[in-house]
Amino acid sequence: MPKVSFDNPITAAGYGQKTVPDAWLERIQSLTDSLTDWIALDIGCGSGFHARCLYHMGAKKAIGLDFSLETLKLARKEDKTRLLTVIQADALHLPLRKYAVNFVLMRTLVHHLTNHRQAIQEAGRVLAPGGKLLIQTIAPKQIAQRLIHQVCPEYVMRDVIRWPNIDYLCNLLEDAHFSHVWTEEFVDIRKPESTQEFIERVRTRRSDSILYMLTKKEHAHLLTKLMHDLPNHFPNGLVLRTIVWTFIIAEKQRC
Ligand SMILES: C[S@@+](CC[C@H](N)C(=O)[O-])C[C@H]1O[C@@H](n2cnc3c(N)ncnc32)[C@H](O)[C@@H]1O
Repeated sequence: MPKVSFDNPITAAGYGQKTVPDAWLERIQSLTDSLTDWIALDIGCGSGFHARCLYHMGAKKAIGLDFSLETLKLARKEDKTRLLTVIQADALHLPLRKYAVNFVLMRTLVHHLTNHRQAIQEAGRVLAPGGKLLIQTIAPKQIAQRLIHQVCPEYVMRDVIRWPNIDYLCNLLEDAHFSHVWTEEFVDIRKPESTQEFIERVRTRRSDSILYMLTKKEHAHLLTKLMHDLPNHFPNGLVLRTIVWTFIIAEKQRC
């Protein structure tokens, strides 16, 4: 199956236009006791948007780490006031010393990783005792609910198998000696967009990473179905989407 090329400028740009609901900021704040005096690391930071949020929430230092140069170029460009420390590295080999950070975020990263166990062990190694890891992902059963799959169910299975099972990730965290591991659902009601805007994002393969894996013919088939079906799903011309995320939260054992 083809892979997403994160060094493609169009892909990188797709990770550059992010907003975040206030509820997300509040959730992070309550998980981290305001982050004050913490060093925060966002692994697979994309445009660096969330790493900058962590800085604004009080982290004394925020590090955005990503293996894609193109993506990091964007993160640097967006970071107008140089708030972030930006590192190019692979999540499987973090160039940080043991206990270097207090908070690790992995937001929509795990379905791209080739070795989940190693990535979790690495996060555990760099986290100081009492520090927290937040994995934000989508449970495989929620993937089938995505709008493109409702309209074009023939591509569901190909997408579902990309997303690691939540229990499996929790077991890896326990194996890596995290002390408390728990999960929460986070319901994200997306800003409404017109059907044309949504179709344009699908056309330029910017709405879901499964789109990068479709052949030209499959992509054209999806677009045809969307143009035909969306007016029936959303007769007033506004696409309303909700993403049900899973947060996996784990605390690094205190010594
Ligand atoms: C779906 S994007 C998410 C970006 C950002 N976290 C967000 O939520 O908007 C996944 C990001 O992870 C990065 N990535 C994927 N595999 C990685 C790895 N093994 N090590 C470091 N970064 C990785 C990609 O370059 C990309 O920027």
